[in-house]
Amino acid sequence: MRTAIISDIHGNLEAFEAVLKAIDARKVDQIICLGDILGYGPNPLECVDLVAARCVWSLMGNHDYAVLYEPTNFNNVAKQAAYWTRECLDEAAEQDVESGNRRLDFLNRIKPRVRFEDLYTCVHGSVRKPINEYVFDTDVVDDPRKMREIFDRIENRCLVGHTHVPGIFQWTEEDGADFTASAHLPNPESDDESDEVHLDPNADTAMGLPSLDENTDPTADGDPLLVGVHEFDEREKCIVNPGSVGQPRDGDERASFAILDTNQSPHVVEFYRLRYDVDAVIAKINAIPELDNWLGDRLAVGR
Ligand SMILES: [Fe+2]
Repeated sequence: MRTAIISDIHGNLEAFEAVLKAIDARKVDQIICLGDILGYGPNPLECVDLVAARCVWSLMGNHDYAVLYEPTNFNNVAKQAAYWTRECLDEAAEQDVESGNRRLDFLNRIKPRVRFEDLYTCVHGSVRKPINEYVFDTDVVDDPRKMREIFDRIENRCLVGHTHVPGIFQWTEEDGADFTASAHLPNPESDDESDEVHLDPNADTAMGLPSLDENTDPTADGDPLLVGVHEFDEREKCIVNPGSVGQPRDGDERASFAILDTNQSPHVVEFYRLRYDVDAVIAKINAIPELDNWLGDRLAVGR
């Protein structure tokens, strides 16, 4: 089974449509979404409808929860965006009862946790707090106890979103947790034959990412760039984060997604980055008073 893993779309339709096109070109069997369809972005309705149409399931993210139920530990910008998104859903349901009900039915079915292929547990945040807990790359150094408690609850492999930073956490009893950013994983399509480079969690996560020079970046024409590949050890305990489609935060503004291939032995996960029309999304955000302009500014720099 080839499964495209997407997460944290955040109402960014331009990024989502570009990612779906790239996924379709890579012939996958299914698409799964790790949550946060909603929040921050200017096109929540369209993104919900596309997830409902294209994904086999989606998880409950903290922003989906905020829009549907209540914001938890949100700053004012995020809270205001959540309430604006709720108004969009309510107004659309008043104008078109049938499609509005269909959309709400779908949102009412999103789950906090899904397990698939008997090996992969999927949550938006962490296995111990599925909706709200972040598993940060810096936790491997700053909070080893937290990482141990989380890995104690993981039987095999875990897929998460929430931090908007793509990469893999690996666990060994001897050394505890380690994090490798997707851009530092081995890449068979790259000329650089250097071995896997482990991220210094104290360093800026943007350091060492591939150049974003428009003239040399192969994704400038819309073709997604394979940034890293990981082959799983058979008994490996790990947490995979595909990064964010609609609001990357690792200093690379390109949309992020992953493809998990369980037809291969060992299983393999590929990480991709893709350019999309960021300026169009920023213009939309700036035209909506309830969405703070900072939400657009951060898209331009991937923060
Ligand atoms: Fe998110």
